[in-house]
Amino acid sequence: METKMVLTPEQQAILDGSKGETMAKVMKTMVNYGEIFGATKMVPVTSEYGHLVLSFGLMFLGPVFDLYQELIDEGCLSGQKFTCDPRPYDPAVPQSLIAKGAAKVIYSKQGKYEKEMRQLGLLNEDSFTCTCYMPELGNIPKKGDVLSWAESSAVVYANSVLGARCNRNSGILELFGSICGFVPYFGFLTDEGRKATWVVKLETTKMPDAQILGSAIGMKVMEDVPYVYGLDKYLGNELNDAAKTYLKDFGAATASNGAVGLYHIDGLTPEAVEFGDKLIAAGAKEYIITDEELQRVKDNYPVIWKDKNATPEMCFLGCPHMSLQQLKDWTEKLEAGLKEAGNEKVSIPTVFTTSTAVLKEFKKCPEYKRLMKTGVIISYICPLMYMDNPLCSGKAVITSSNKLRTYTTARYYSNDEILTMLTKGVK
Ligand code: F3S
Repeated sequence: METKMVLTPEQQAILDGSKGETMAKVMKTMVNYGEIFGATKMVPVTSEYGHLVLSFGLMFLGPVFDLYQELIDEGCLSGQKFTCDPRPYDPAVPQSLIAKGAAKVIYSKQGKYEKEMRQLGLLNEDSFTCTCYMPELGNIPKKGDVLSWAESSAVVYANSVLGARCNRNSGILELFGSICGFVPYFGFLTDEGRKATWVVKLETTKMPDAQILGSAIGMKVMEDVPYVYGLDKYLGNELNDAAKTYLKDFGAATASNGAVGLYHIDGLTPEAVEFGDKLIAAGAKEYIITDEELQRVKDNYPVIWKDKNATPEMCFLGCPHMSLQQLKDWTEKLEAGLKEAGNEKVSIPTVFTTSTAVLKEFKKCPEYKRLMKTGVIISYICPLMYMDNPLCSGKAVITSSNKLRTYTTARYYSNDEILTMLTKGVK
């Protein structure tokens, strides 16, 4: 195959079939993908692990299962072990009997799909989470690593907080990059593509809610790169657990309410610390964020429940999956709120979602038993997959995740509002 890209002899040989016909097709797909985006070359994937976005054995994905099987049969396995997005189904999460039955049919290929993933290179059975970069999981790319990932919340985190280099690839293409070991060089892999074309100035009187700030910036800049001034005033200048957790939720909102794949936080994220305003491209646009602007953004979220005045039937927190510290913090807050209100249990069936690896650690902490006493359920599920079930999508679900709000019928409330509802009841 001929290409306008400059390939190394090794890459050209793979393209010409040195590693078999199927591997040549995988390489050809990646080269074609790069050509569409004007890539000039292919570069090696350098991270230790990959990450797959497609985690669900949806009955309608027959061609994907066939494709994976063909790759396995031809020995085209991933050159790096990979983690994977959360599983779609957990019997521990409350569902009507009929909805449970529907989920079993919808995700009837889950077992087959997971078997294929194990054969292709799944890291281990704890690997199912969108927050693979948590220390309990250990898929933490190094600064400058080139990745082949697709999960939008993980890509924006890896690029921005870890300083890795990854485009917003699609599912399957990210697996192909891990199989052939190369990805096209364009976008966020280049120094130029990492420059900010928006300057965001934070002029709020208090620390903004991460989810609303991310949403506001995402909707304004869409797929561009923002350079944010003023957030380090609240988060400090060290990427500690609290700052990373904030940026996890902030980034997921920028990536889902817009299509942000990289942001820089002045004085905090690694490239902003290293290069400062040299990262800002000439002619960058400006967005000023005040308390009023954040209120405007929040007030404009549509409520798409069938009955807008319905009493909430369920609450999901942890999209992206919660960190260990978030689980502990929520335990403290719920306990204090319930005590103050004279209640023992949360007033709405509530599910906290986190990875199995984080949950294992949480179970060793004293807060675990205390949280269980409040009636909260902890699950490894992806709430979006739960809501995708037509028999669940009509439920009056509340969440403080702007990603879940964007992709489902769930209604957004801030963490503070949800805490009040859970502990004091819904008025
Ligand atoms: Fe993670 Fe599912 Fe939310 S993949 S970011 S929990 S939509």
